[in-house]
Amino acid sequence: MARLKTGVLISGRGSNMAALAEACADPGFPAEIVLVLSNEPGAAGLGRAQDFGIPTAVVDHRAFPERAAFDAALSDRLEAAGAEFVCLAGFMRLLAAGFVERWRDRLLNIHPSLLPAFRGLDTHERALAAGVLLHGCTVHFVRPDLDDGPIVMQAAVPVLPRDTADTLAARVLEQEHRIYPAALRLVAERAVRVEGERVIHRTGWRNDGSLANPPHP
Ligand code: GRF
Repeated sequence: MARLKTGVLISGRGSNMAALAEACADPGFPAEIVLVLSNEPGAAGLGRAQDFGIPTAVVDHRAFPERAAFDAALSDRLEAAGAEFVCLAGFMRLLAAGFVERWRDRLLNIHPSLLPAFRGLDTHERALAAGVLLHGCTVHFVRPDLDDGPIVMQAAVPVLPRDTADTLAARVLEQEHRIYPAALRLVAERAVRVEGERVIHRTGWRNDGSLANPPHP
């Protein structure tokens, strides 16, 4: 089967992008990264992508007075690179409904919480403040509302007695780097599909056992 041509949108350090790039470096992986696109010219992730030999581009949101024009420029660059699918990986701009609809069910995001808890920013601080005992991360298809959409995969980590936001973030990030490539693999293999705003595994089950805390590869 042809590999799914994927664009990755970043704004910063790009560690999730690098996790995806590492997975895609295996020719047997069902997706390949055709472009890493940043809205921030200084994003450290751009250099990391170049180290993988992946083409990069910058579309600086400051050059666009209107969000719709920025979103259209992003889509145009992605399509020009041949992208059929998009992964948001620490992309810190809100995307308007037009972009989300254009890429509907072809657009994944990773969020550092067990959605629907803690949408938005500062998730680790808020998890500690709320006193939850489990925290984690989620890969989901993107819908116009912030951090909303059908959930593909989640991983939970315990909140430990001495955790700070930083130690908790590090434990979650390790899981992010596992579940993002695993989720992209399932989507690229068409092992999961969206039905009624939920993700269904091809076994017909909501979760065949591989979508929550997936086993180590
Ligand atoms: C990650 O925690 C991701 O879940 C969130 O933004 C952060 C990006 O980190 N959406 P990185 O740029 O992938 O290292």
